[in-house]
Amino acid sequence: MKDPAYIPDDYFSRHSALEITGVDQPFEVDLGCGDGGFLLQMANHYPERRFLGIERLLGRVRGVCSKAKQEKLENVQVLRMESQYFLEWFVQPGSMSRLHYLCPDPWPKARHHKNRLVQDEFMPILHQALAENGEFLFKTDHEEYYEWVLDHVGRSGLFERLEWEDDQFYYPKTDFQLLWESMGKVMYRARFVKK
Ligand SMILES: C[S@@+](CC[C@H](N)C(=O)[O-])C[C@H]1O[C@@H](n2cnc3c(N)ncnc32)[C@H](O)[C@@H]1O
Repeated sequence: MKDPAYIPDDYFSRHSALEITGVDQPFEVDLGCGDGGFLLQMANHYPERRFLGIERLLGRVRGVCSKAKQEKLENVQVLRMESQYFLEWFVQPGSMSRLHYLCPDPWPKARHHKNRLVQDEFMPILHQALAENGEFLFKTDHEEYYEWVLDHVGRSGLFERLEWEDDQFYYPKTDFQLLWESMGKVMYRARFVKK
């Protein structure tokens, strides 16, 4: 079985979904995939789609890769890379059918808001990376970051918000979500489609 760790030959050129995955199938990215609970369940559930986890911590990348090997999942890969670099410079524009951005650090203090990935200048970067009708799915435990994302996406004018009912489609909970909900806390979510 091919190693799920994706190690590019060239970190400075843009990569199409086909170059990364080797097949012409819908390509979904899990930004900050952590321990990979969501990513691996998605890969199990949708064998006809390809999944790439982006994660900056090497230990987590290795952990997800070894679980993917144990489960003999051929449709999942993990790339050790910084999220914004991946979207802005690494992936070919128009490549991703869905981007999952689940339970990121909300950087709650006002002086740290500049560290949030979602900013006004991020919106066109996300837009260009998605394929036609590509979707952006976001979850957070932090109400103020949720409102922040709705504001930034809304004023960009580049996306339309879609319904996201419970059980509308298969969408497993992330490891972080399970932990959070076990403490009786709320998880916010939003789903957008590229205009
Ligand atoms: C709070 S955890 C959430 C993990 C997973 N999405 C979940 O919901 O269980 C955030 C993850 O994103 C990774 N991460 C944070 N900032 C990142 C960045 N700029 N680029 C890549 N990974 C990042 C962290 O290492 C961590 O594994």
